[in-house]
Amino acid sequence: MERIQIPITELEQSSFCTTESNFRTKTLQEEFNTGVRWQRIPARYMKLSPEALRVSIQGAKDALRDEVLILGHHYQREDVIEHADLQGDSYLLSKLASEKREAKIIIFCGVHFMAETAEILSSSKQKVILPNMAAGCSMADMANTKQVEDCWARLKDTDTIPVTYMNSTAEIKALCGRNNGIVCTSSNAKEAFDYAYSKGKRILFIPDQHLGRNTALDYGIREEEMVLWDPYRPQAISDEDLDSSKVILWKGHCSVHTRFSVKQAEAARAADPNVNVLVHPECTNDVVSTADYVGSTEYIKRMVEKAPSGSSWAIGTEVNLVKRLAHTYPDKNVFCLDEMICPCSTMYRVHPAYLLWVLEGLIAGIAINEIKVDKSTQRDAKLALDRMLSL
Ligand code: 13P
Ligand code: SF4
Repeated sequence: MERIQIPITELEQSSFCTTESNFRTKTLQEEFNTGVRWQRIPARYMKLSPEALRVSIQGAKDALRDEVLILGHHYQREDVIEHADLQGDSYLLSKLASEKREAKIIIFCGVHFMAETAEILSSSKQKVILPNMAAGCSMADMANTKQVEDCWARLKDTDTIPVTYMNSTAEIKALCGRNNGIVCTSSNAKEAFDYAYSKGKRILFIPDQHLGRNTALDYGIREEEMVLWDPYRPQAISDEDLDSSKVILWKGHCSVHTRFSVKQAEAARAADPNVNVLVHPECTNDVVSTADYVGSTEYIKRMVEKAPSGSSWAIGTEVNLVKRLAHTYPDKNVFCLDEMICPCSTMYRVHPAYLLWVLEGLIAGIAINEIKVDKSTQRDAKLALDRMLSL
């Protein structure tokens, strides 16, 4: 039997939570000293203070002017997101990457699958850069291309449509593109289900079992009509169970969102009966079922934005976004559902020193950490992404 490998990103995530409320950026050297294994960069960037980095990044941006567009995902740390020209969730950022054709270079402050998607959707004349190549995603690492190809070999003649969450490799998106499938994000998973059921009778949903299950239950599909595909035990599902299923859920999860619990929601309500519990659909179904509101990071941001002054919000998503919302709306009581400080450890890998490094590289005429996707993967993945963008 294949040895079960827990992605290194998942292991790092589990050791990344802290009770230290003062979660501030330190020099890159100090952050390395905690034992993380991030991309190595020239020594002179390692000791720069966050303040020195801020000034130099601003200077480098001024020098490059409109040549560079910096996109930032909501989960980026404050010292990085402040330099983003545009911010968004994974759907909005992919849309922006497909629309903003003026900048020669897109620097993607987010994780690898997002930068890869931007590379596929941007024009062939644009280059996409990921500041730290080690910034991956533990959920995306739970579905490797070979495992998905093996799974598809068993399913391909069974009227099944592959639907992949954005959090997956370009090769998995390409497999979906070639097989009538589609990409989705947390803001359009229901519409992706509509699309898939107009093409086939069953969905293979990769790699987040929770987003898949939450969407399916919302869609009126019963738990008994779903099966869980464990890539390490594919034979555990019988042909009969596969045949009678409506959704095959890949056994993957987000290490950040699965920390939230019903107990935490109960505690928040015990402390304030008027609190609104607002969570991301990557949370487990018991948490989603107890929540008052559920949606993507862009939805969470909009809900807090339009909430009345004095209202209370217990939020189940990545802490950098929650803290930013709390700071932006001091007239509202915004806090994280989990008392523990648990940033997404891979989003956190984009330290401002990396941003300065790639910006100064561009000034010197070098595109450091350029994301490349081969032509045929790009073509097929774009099919699945374009289907999503036209939902
Ligand atoms: P959205 O940006 O789609 O809300 O997803 C959150 C997330 O976990 C990104 O990896
Ligand atoms: Fe991946 Fe979860 Fe981090 Fe998003 S929050 S990048 S799904 S590990």
